[in-house]
Amino acid sequence: MSALPPVRRSVLRMAAYQPPLGNRRGALRLDFNENTVGCSRRALDALRRLTQEEAAVYPEYERIQQRLARGFGVPAGQLLLTAGTDDALRLAVDTVVEPGSLVVLVEPTFAMYRFYAERAGARLLVLRYGAQMQFPEPSVLRALAQRPRLFVLANPNNPTGTLVPLAVLRRILQAAPRTWVLVDEAYSEFSDVTVLPWVRRYPQLLVTRTFSKAFGLAGLRVGCLFAHRRAAPLFRRAQSPYPVATPALVAAEQALRDRRFLREYLRAVRTGKQILVAGLERLRIPQFPSAANFVLVDFGRRAEAVLRALRRQGILLRDRRSDFGRVGYVRITVGTPAQTRRLVRALEALW
Ligand SMILES: Cc1ncc(COP(=O)(O)O)c(C=O)c1O
Repeated sequence: MSALPPVRRSVLRMAAYQPPLGNRRGALRLDFNENTVGCSRRALDALRRLTQEEAAVYPEYERIQQRLARGFGVPAGQLLLTAGTDDALRLAVDTVVEPGSLVVLVEPTFAMYRFYAERAGARLLVLRYGAQMQFPEPSVLRALAQRPRLFVLANPNNPTGTLVPLAVLRRILQAAPRTWVLVDEAYSEFSDVTVLPWVRRYPQLLVTRTFSKAFGLAGLRVGCLFAHRRAAPLFRRAQSPYPVATPALVAAEQALRDRRFLREYLRAVRTGKQILVAGLERLRIPQFPSAANFVLVDFGRRAEAVLRALRRQGILLRDRRSDFGRVGYVRITVGTPAQTRRLVRALEALW
């Protein structure tokens, strides 16, 4: 067999990404931080109303971009539509990172930051959260003094559930005027903390939002990248012309408008989290405080057996030991009160 033509060296150096497990339908999915009840009915109705003509023509972004921007409270010119956060990350990295550029991350965090940075051939400087999941602000500020091209942070962070306060984010932005600072706000609906209004003020700030989590549209792949009015045109220049399909757009528009659905789901998750936290305390299972719709716990040496037993009962949790280099860490997505009670009862029976 003849050899293949060459591919990028950065791709050859990458470890193969392990995609999510299949076979999750019908289970109590507490493993991917998705919405555990589904999306707003209004979003689903918008999908059902799609016409043959709408399917036949290329998506028209202008009107929907204006409506989404209004919903998020930013000027339309500062919003770019993307196929989920993943696509926003790829776009950000493709636009600003060159082979050899320095990219700073704080791990454990969402795996796609490393994925896209490595793919682009970046030089990575990886800092770590502390043993109690503290954000290493002094090391971050020292790293920013090296003027990296890009610093990426999830707020709240996955899988730690921690939130970096606004005052710290302000210090980061003030310390790094020559670094693109990307704040991934995939879980900000749950924390109610956001730097989105700051995209008017800081030219180097990028913010991503997604419809995959609180809004329940992970299957449709839609999200947004927000940038300063001077920066946004550069990212638009690097973007493919039709990154988001029409069904995703119409569903996202309705999902954002259905404030009641979102409010009620957020309330259910808040109560679910109280039930989970109390249940874990009763069982004396170590847990870390979380600002998101998931809780990181330490099942210790029993983790594997517990995960296996729960899976047999149709309850899926996410093993996170690879993030911490030791057994025991598991991430639990918070569902509704009823879903959480089911999990807590199952844990009580197993523990
Ligand atoms: C921090 C963070 N950002 C982004 C995503 C993925 O978002 P999307 O579905 O919009 O690509 C996840 C999903 O787990 C996440 O944890």
